[in-house]
Amino acid sequence: IRENVTDQYHRPMRDLRISVTDRCNFRCTYCMPKELFGDDFASLPQEELLTFDEIRRLVKLFVSMGVRKIRLTGGEPLVRSGLPDLVASLASIEGVEDIGLTTNGLLLGRQAQPLYQAGLRRLNVSLDALEPERFASINGRGIKPAVILKNIELAQSLGFHLKVNMVVQKGVNDSEILPMAAYFKGKGIPLRFIEFMDAGNGNGWSFSRVVTKQEIYERLSRVYDLEPVEPGYFGEVAAKYRYRDGGAEVGFISSVSESFCSSCTRARLSSDGKMYTCLFASEGFDLRGMLRSGVQEELLSSAIRRIWEMRVDRYSDERTEQTVLRKKIPMSYIGG
Ligand code: GTP
Ligand code: 5AD
Ligand code: SF4
Ligand code: SF4
Repeated sequence: IRENVTDQYHRPMRDLRISVTDRCNFRCTYCMPKELFGDDFASLPQEELLTFDEIRRLVKLFVSMGVRKIRLTGGEPLVRSGLPDLVASLASIEGVEDIGLTTNGLLLGRQAQPLYQAGLRRLNVSLDALEPERFASINGRGIKPAVILKNIELAQSLGFHLKVNMVVQKGVNDSEILPMAAYFKGKGIPLRFIEFMDAGNGNGWSFSRVVTKQEIYERLSRVYDLEPVEPGYFGEVAAKYRYRDGGAEVGFISSVSESFCSSCTRARLSSDGKMYTCLFASEGFDLRGMLRSGVQEELLSSAIRRIWEMRVDRYSDERTEQTVLRKKIPMSYIGG
């Protein structure tokens, strides 16, 4: 039995994005710039992180209120040890219809196989450029694309359904739009172009650095014949197209130029157990505290229900040069 809890704008709660760690082995300029996340950056201590059992308990409650899809994020989720155990545990919960993982791909070489064995089938891998020096400088750790491409191939050969995410920044990697499209079309892997967002504080965002869906679409259209693809389900984040001559799909995640808040069904859980109702929130609700104080399941449920029912978030609908300055949770803390 599943309740259908809805928020103030009648949006159901369908997805739960779970951050399993706030740590990352990359320092992407738009997410964890080295100036803000230097050597002295203190990630959350282990005891503050939800245990896998605590995550499982919470997921069961979220599922009873309408959640069907789970997405594991970070930071970089693969730096959390034992992740396949969590996947297996969540996959066995009745009512969980889909589990995906969003990763930078660096550690997939070792972990793709155990994750597949645990029941994971969907991977979104982030990759912002194919030109080695450009990618190395964006990820802030000098990592070359070759290792990520090799891991993508490995995951594909194991049977994973993959997508690639590319955050497009004007003057930084927009020259990579066509090479990336050509490469992943050839591999049969859907590539999603993501408009650069003002996530967190201090990632250098401004409207002028956004390359819009429209602009990217036009650049692709000069080379390829594209046709729209129907959304897979209500509230899908990416607008999808397919190449008429076959090959893969491409997607656009246009949260700046065409916001999709009106169909946003996503709740978020941070690695330290706070619930957030928007990627751009400044405050969350401490579910871990309730869990650890030993309250009854019913009280936890009603807290989650109340938080969702009161939800009025629609940040991307309201974005202006002013809202950008608001205090917002870091992207690396909430996982996108
Ligand atoms: P699937 O469609 O299930 O494959 O996953 P997804 O696209 O929802 O998740 P993913 O982690 O791959 O995120 C892709 C991009 O969409 C990232 O840049 C996210 O930050 C962004 N995104 C996901 N959900 C939201 C949202 O609710 N609001 C905004 N503004 N951006 C989002
Ligand atoms: N704008 C858009 N996308 C972002 N991501 C991280 N920071 C930003 C940002 N400022 C993307 C990552 C990853 C996903 C979880 O979010 O590249 O693909
Ligand atoms: Fe790490 Fe992903 Fe943020 Fe890059 S975007 S720093 S890979 S969490
Ligand atoms: Fe949902 Fe907030 Fe993103 Fe809008 S900005 S789609 S409300 S997470």
